Amino acid sequence: MRWRMPGFCKTMAGGVLLSLSLALLGWGAEGGKKEVSGGATVYLGQDRDIWRPLMHTAVNLNEIRSIKSSFYLRTFDPEGTVFYGDTKNGQDWFILSLKDGIPLMQISRGESLVSVAGGPKLNDGKWHLLEVSNQEPFVILEVDGSNRMVVGMQSKQTMEILSGELRLALGGILMDKEQMFVQLEPHMDGCVRGGSWLNLSIPWELEAEELWPCHQNIQPGSYFPGSGFAVFNTSVFPFEADLGVKVELRGDFSEMDGTIFSIKASGQKLLFALVANNNTKEITLTVGEEKVSMKDTFKAMVIIFQTDSLRVLRDGDESNTTTLPIGPVSHPGYLTTWKEGRLAVGGLLGEEEDDAGSQFLTGCLEKIQVQGRDLDLDLAVKHMSISSYSCPA
Ligand SMILES: *[C@@H]1O[C@H](CO)[C@@H](O)[C@H](O)[C@H]1NC(C)=O
Ligand SMILES: *[C@@H]1O[C@H](CO)[C@@H](O)[C@H](O)[C@H]1NC(C)=O
Ligand SMILES: *[C@@H]1O[C@H](CO)[C@@H](O)[C@H](O)[C@H]1NC(C)=O
Repeated sequence: MRWRMPGFCKTMAGGVLLSLSLALLGWGAEGGKKEVSGGATVYLGQDRDIWRPLMHTAVNLNEIRSIKSSFYLRTFDPEGTVFYGDTKNGQDWFILSLKDGIPLMQISRGESLVSVAGGPKLNDGKWHLLEVSNQEPFVILEVDGSNRMVVGMQSKQTMEILSGELRLALGGILMDKEQMFVQLEPHMDGCVRGGSWLNLSIPWELEAEELWPCHQNIQPGSYFPGSGFAVFNTSVFPFEADLGVKVELRGDFSEMDGTIFSIKASGQKLLFALVANNNTKEITLTVGEEKVSMKDTFKAMVIIFQTDSLRVLRDGDESNTTTLPIGPVSHPGYLTTWKEGRLAVGGLLGEEEDDAGSQFLTGCLEKIQVQGRDLDLDLAVKHMSISSYSCPA
């Protein structure tokens, strides 16, 4: 059943009271759509189908009096969908996203399809005010009160009478993603707050049971709350026998608990695991059957997998190096594991190819690099509880 009752639930306060009384009556527990205010603080990275909006609303075009929508966005994520609008049931649409940290607008209207990117990089972890307005035939995006980006779209079609519905969505799209001009990775580890949508006060429909909170303060990094891991195929990291593979990690290791990362191929024994123990205040490195523990008082770690040895450097200090034997001789599955194995960040890989992992990490990895490049957890098969680009500060 739906909770919306036109004419009765006019204000959000009314909505809350109504929801409350319905909850007390035990209604709406199943299949009920929750409603939230358009001004709510929303964590866009919340668990769901990555293309689906987290929340959406609809209004009759003839009820619209304002041409402007504005909201605040905060993220360290360079790419993802933020805001969507459409008319004619998705035939004409508008998408605002970030790509390489820069705002990207894609607009489809009648026969025209345009994309415009520009303005400053917004993925700096600060709140930015974004304002989208429609001043026929222009669509205007303003960032932090300046940096205007103006897109003009002249339609050959005669002026249409504006009627029907306008739909708005946050954190996803309502049309077919194949129609997009510029493809993008939709998942956004970011927060939106203080939204004012065409100066409407109608509630939005939530596509989830409840909204996950946004952290008050954030810092760059990947946050693992202890409920899942991120898995990569090792084949994406080219292993060259002479050069080996270099993994760099940065963070406060004394604030971590659980498996930081592990490597394993199916049918092979666990090759490697790095585990933080918050009780013993030690970091334990497992290589095959061997285990080495060290005090967790460092902030950076470089692990180099070579053909016949594993070198571990702490805090960039050559004198603080541990070397362990590893390689095809001592570990027969070594090369296979680097070619067709899996590397899991934030958990321990188990026996099965499709296992769900265990001993999950709680903590913030400020940096994870493989072969000198930042590991993009959005490209992994990862648990939705992990935020790829931000940690609570
Ligand atoms: C927005 O709506 C409020 C009341 O609903 C009204 O007072 C205000 O003038 C409107 N602002 C714009 C820009 O339409
Ligand atoms: C580590 O232990 C301390 C003290 O028991 C606790 O407050 C903290 O939450 C623990 N941290 C993690 C990541 O488990
Ligand atoms: C890893 O490879 C398997 C099989 O080839 C594939 O199904 C899976 O999607 C890949 N995972 C990633 C994260 O690329």
